[in-house]
This record gives sequence, C-alpha cells and structure tokens, in this order.
Amino acid sequence: MTTTRNVAVLVGSLRKASFSRKVATALIGMAPSSLKMEIVEIGQLPHYNQDDDANPPAASAAFKQRIQNASALLFVTPEYNRSVPGALKNAIDIASRPYGHSAWSGKPGAVVSVSPGAMGAFGANHALRQSLVFLNVPAMPQPEAYIGNAATLFDDAGTLTNASTREFLQKFMAAFAQWIERNAAQ
Ligand SMILES: Cc1cc2nc3c(=O)[nH]c(=O)nc-3n(C[C@H](O)[C@H](O)[C@H](O)COP(=O)(O)O)c2cc1C
Repeated sequence: MTTTRNVAVLVGSLRKASFSRKVATALIGMAPSSLKMEIVEIGQLPHYNQDDDANPPAASAAFKQRIQNASALLFVTPEYNRSVPGALKNAIDIASRPYGHSAWSGKPGAVVSVSPGAMGAFGANHALRQSLVFLNVPAMPQPEAYIGNAATLFDDAGTLTNASTREFLQKFMAAFAQWIERNAAQ
C-alpha cells in the first residue's frame, strides 16, 4: 500500500500575480495521488527575532507546526538580487529555531526557481540549496529546475500553456515523487 505524504509547498514570492505561484500551482496539479501538496503561506510571518525563541509569535509557531507536519518540501522561488527573497529566507529561519529543534531536518526537498529572465533564477536556486545543506534537507539533485522566460508560459487565466515546460515539470514531479519515497521517514 502506498503511504500518502504531506508535502509543504513554499512559494518565495508574495506578489498576487506571481509566476512562481503559478508554477507551484501547475506542479500541485501534476502530483500523484500519493502526495498531498499544499502551499504553506509565508506572507503573514513576522521577522524572525532570536529573542522570541522561547515564546515565538503565534503566526511563527503555527507556520513551524505546518512544516513539522509535512513529510517533504517543495520550494518554488523567484530570485531577488541573485539570491533568495527575504520573505522566504525569513520563513526558513523561523522554522529552523530554536537551535537543535529545526522543523526542516531530514525532510526530502526539491527546488524550482522561476524568472522572467533567461537564467531561470539560477542564483536563488543555489543560494537556497546552500541553506538546505545546513538544514539537513536532502534536496533532489536532478532534474534541476530553472524556469526562465516565465512571462511567456501562461495564459491570461494563469494556466501553464507552454507544452515543453509542462512536459518538463511532469518529469520533474515524477522524479520528486520517487525522491520522496526514497528519502522520507517511514
Ligand atoms: C527586489 C527584486 C530583485 C530582483 N532581482 C532579480 C534577480 O536577481 N534575478 C532575476 O532573474 N530577476 C530578478 N527580479 C525580477 C523578478 O524575477 C520578477 O519580478 C519576478 O516576476 C518575481 O517572481 P514572481 O513573479 O514569482 O513574483 C527582481 C525583482 C525584485 C522585485
């Protein structure tokens, strides 16, 4: 019998018309029934403050609990100034603390970076992977997903209409499902 896995989807953009969110939505629609994928929102989170470790704000505690409840992690993010958007880094920091009590550790993950530019937010993808190494998140190495020219991939309703990108993301999702089965805690 296949176990159903909760996958927390983290979107690095807070923008309403975010291309990253559209890519995340497309990926969620491609997931096999064994994966229950849900976007865990990060826009409501206060700035992380180490002084609050013993008594974190309610929104931060609730977010960390959502990560704790997940078996796997999918990050879909734009690039800001060649790195990870501050809102996503803040969310990562929040669920990583107090020291020794990170919610991320051991959960298999994957990274998709998205940009209207040609380079597909390569810098953000790898800056994020740097944090994931420290957080003990085994991040799927292949296929790498740098989604470039994002403004050309969707119709007016936000549906992913580009055939080759759809095909690529379908392969990506199939590989991620296998990665989760290989690396998730039982
Ligand atoms: C503060 C800021 C910095 C940005 N830096 C980069 C960058 O380094 N590389 C890049 O490809 N795009 C950069 N962009 C453009 C974003 O890729 C673009 O705004 C994109 O639509 C954001 O992703 P979203 O559609 O998911 O919100 C930047 C945008 C902002 C607002």
